Amino acid sequence: MKYCLDWKEYARVSRQAVAEGCVLLKNDNDTLPIGKGSKVSLFGRIMFDYYKSGTGSGGMVNAPYVVSILDALKEEKEISLNEGLLKVYEDWTEANPFNKGKGWAAEPWCQEEMEVSEQLAKEAAAASDMAVVIIGRTAGEDQDNSATEGSYLITAKERQMLEMVCRHFTKVAVVLNVGNIIDMKWVDEYKPSAVLYAWQGGIEGGHGVADVLMGRVNPCGKLTDTIAYNIEDYPSTENFAGETENIYAEDIYVGYRYFETAAKERVMYPFGFGLSYTDFDNSSSCEFGADDTVKVRTTVKNIGKTAGKEIIQVYYNPAQGKLSKPVRNLIRYGKTGVLQPGESEELSFEFPIRDMASFDDSGVTGHANAYVLEAGEYKIYAGSSIREAKEIGALTLADTIVTSQLTEVLAPVKPFDRMVIRVNGEEITRISEPAPQRKVDLKKRIADNRPEGRACSGDKGYKFADVMNERVSLEEYLDQLSDEDLIGMSRGEGMCSSKVTPGIAGSFGGVTTRLHEHFGMPIGGCSDGPSGIRMDCGSEAFAMPNGTSLACSYNLKLVEELYEFAGKEIRFNKIDTLLGPGINIHRNPLNGRNFEYFSEDPYMTGSMAVAMLKGMHKYNVTGTIKHYAANNQEYHRHFVDSVVSQRAMREIYLKAYEMAVKEAGAYSIMTSYGKINGIYTGSNYDLNTVVLRDEWGFDGLVMTDWWARLNDDGESEGSIKNTAMMIRAQNDVYEVTADAESNANGDNAEEALKDGRITRGELLRNARNICRVLMKSQVGKKLIEGEDELSELNRPESNKPKINVMPRVVLDENGEGSFDLTGLKTEAKSDNQFSIGVPGKGEYMMHIKMKSDAGELAQTTMNIFSNNMLIHAITINGTGGEWITRDAQFEVFVSKDVFIDIAFAQSGIEIDSITVTQNEMDEEKKKRFEL
Ligand code: BGC
Repeated sequence: MKYCLDWKEYARVSRQAVAEGCVLLKNDNDTLPIGKGSKVSLFGRIMFDYYKSGTGSGGMVNAPYVVSILDALKEEKEISLNEGLLKVYEDWTEANPFNKGKGWAAEPWCQEEMEVSEQLAKEAAAASDMAVVIIGRTAGEDQDNSATEGSYLITAKERQMLEMVCRHFTKVAVVLNVGNIIDMKWVDEYKPSAVLYAWQGGIEGGHGVADVLMGRVNPCGKLTDTIAYNIEDYPSTENFAGETENIYAEDIYVGYRYFETAAKERVMYPFGFGLSYTDFDNSSSCEFGADDTVKVRTTVKNIGKTAGKEIIQVYYNPAQGKLSKPVRNLIRYGKTGVLQPGESEELSFEFPIRDMASFDDSGVTGHANAYVLEAGEYKIYAGSSIREAKEIGALTLADTIVTSQLTEVLAPVKPFDRMVIRVNGEEITRISEPAPQRKVDLKKRIADNRPEGRACSGDKGYKFADVMNERVSLEEYLDQLSDEDLIGMSRGEGMCSSKVTPGIAGSFGGVTTRLHEHFGMPIGGCSDGPSGIRMDCGSEAFAMPNGTSLACSYNLKLVEELYEFAGKEIRFNKIDTLLGPGINIHRNPLNGRNFEYFSEDPYMTGSMAVAMLKGMHKYNVTGTIKHYAANNQEYHRHFVDSVVSQRAMREIYLKAYEMAVKEAGAYSIMTSYGKINGIYTGSNYDLNTVVLRDEWGFDGLVMTDWWARLNDDGESEGSIKNTAMMIRAQNDVYEVTADAESNANGDNAEEALKDGRITRGELLRNARNICRVLMKSQVGKKLIEGEDELSELNRPESNKPKINVMPRVVLDENGEGSFDLTGLKTEAKSDNQFSIGVPGKGEYMMHIKMKSDAGELAQTTMNIFSNNMLIHAITINGTGGEWITRDAQFEVFVSKDVFIDIAFAQSGIEIDSITVTQNEMDEEKKKRFEL
């Protein structure tokens, strides 16, 4: 393929997405947009330190630049900034620098704020027309938010700043640079005149926000979550952050499904809410087709004075029957183009009535384990938010209809009570009932469905290219592989395997020498994800807006277009799958990874995933949807058990995955760290085989999350070594191992094959899944299509860190020596260079004694380059304070000096010493070096 990646266009589309994702919650007296000629006082240190994303793997894109809100406002010609105030902040931040934290995912949730004195606020108010206050938050992998000041709640200093600014200014716009919704009660206390959720917008974030503040883009984003008054109002809060389990007692009543049904008064800003600088009118009609579809038409008219876009949301309120149901359920949504004042546009929506079915996991309707439309009335609503959507028609079903009869999967084994809300007209009763327990015999289900295994045919000389050319079938090709080869395929190498693009998280496929070199099996590469490419060797990539920001745009076309650019960039970097989108549900506002995910609503989540995948698929790369499934807290994430009903799993937590598989042809999935009803997701047969493959028809690849634990049903402990259970469940690849060939993780696959816990049939089945993905991927396609012809346009200048030059080291005549490490910088993004004088040509080994105090799953990387070539990207997990030694080999062919570069992607590694020795060389090696 021949194509060009134009960074300017990428930035333009991303900037538009940031702007369209901004949600305006309040705008009294037309505070926004900022009027031409206005003088603006900026408050809040986050004006300098814009959060482009949350923390952890989803936030580690090395971006060439990041536009902060201040940078963007400085570019505005039609306003001026209060320079005096800016200077006060500049001086203060110099004395109080941004706290990056130490180590993996350790950036604090917020940064210390400057105190705003009465005098400062008063003078600023006298010198300017309005104030913009910027408040920022982060959270992420391994670091949930907390319902405390500085995380979900604002801090005393932020309160003080808001109080002072709101006291002295009449126009105050508060801009929230956050990954996730936060407590909003301060709006009622301090009454700023405008409030804008701006989320975390990637490298073009500041520009997108400025477009909205200046009115070039009329705010047209809406909330994808419900903002309640208190964190305790969310029913999931009670069980959130358990050490060993998290009981999903609220069942299907997640987000607005709960609030709109039973606690409307606890809502401060409803789902789907967001203001505009103009006003719109909408009217809708609804038709029920003979083909069992519902057709909705909505006319939207701009009745205000400013051009803008409007979002229309369609909900249904199903018949209450034996099953209780939420009174509102999002079923479709759409966005107009830019409407000029007086202009109208018609939007149309269509959906099958079966999409309104509920899942009966108890048999109460007479149809156990089936999706049913119970008899009664199904009301359809359309409008500009959940609260403003009006009833536009109703369909009455005389009889209950089974829309799909399935089998029991994933049911709980631990008894617990789940929430039931009975709705009888205006009368709402909240009760609870025991969640139905597992009835199926899981062991028997697995035993009865073991795939047949074909015997090994021995080497017939078939290569992977022969499969691609259709000279042999995939079956015949795989028959050649020994059991050992097949087990090799169950291991993905990483992090930063030298077999794929430098610095990326993992690989899969032909990872052993025999598979790759003898059988020609390609090696697929996967990189984080989701909002841009993470390459820990320092390579730069585009950082996109976070998931929540994109979802709030409700603009599927725009999101698809943005991910077409991502697709080009991924292909450009010779990567086959981006580890994302993250499509878990915002079950609770405190989940640290909400920024990577989209919404509390499964349809919203699924539709966004479909748009992103479709975008990437145009360039024949894909996204690995993750974390399958119910990954709803970071605390104790590799131990915690989600205790959840089958109904909630199917209606809420699996829905988006189902949509991505069925509507976008998703072909790569990552399981999560945790358990569902006692079984780790990576070894969960129901999840990876029954639901995913048998019901949904998925024929692609499932990989574990990095160093995930695995167990058998009934075992409470999990282990990273128990890949036998993973293979049996049809989670095809274990990510990651440092070396697949030598079984670096010491997994039990070989032993389990011998004693029958797994079979050759299962290994072959999984190998087939992996190969099907390789065949679809560029790494496979290039065997018949040849290499791409790619070019780039407008690539921004690099933001690579300044080099720390260290003194030269000289080895003794035996090629040995150690380094003076005073001055070695190990914090994030530091880059140290020095040269080593060597006695002569040959192979040398660096022995690096290091440790990391970070947690067991932390990923901290250091990259070692020799004469500008990456020789090793060493990623270590937390070592619990223990010193370990890692080796990196370099070769000297010409000069007597080698130029070494040691760079750190994150902080958290401590180096004790580096020594160098020269390797013994046999005759053959000596020949290579012409010795
Ligand atoms: C995260 C995944 C990520 C993987 C590779 C894990 O810690 O949970 O989302 O894709 O690391 O970096």
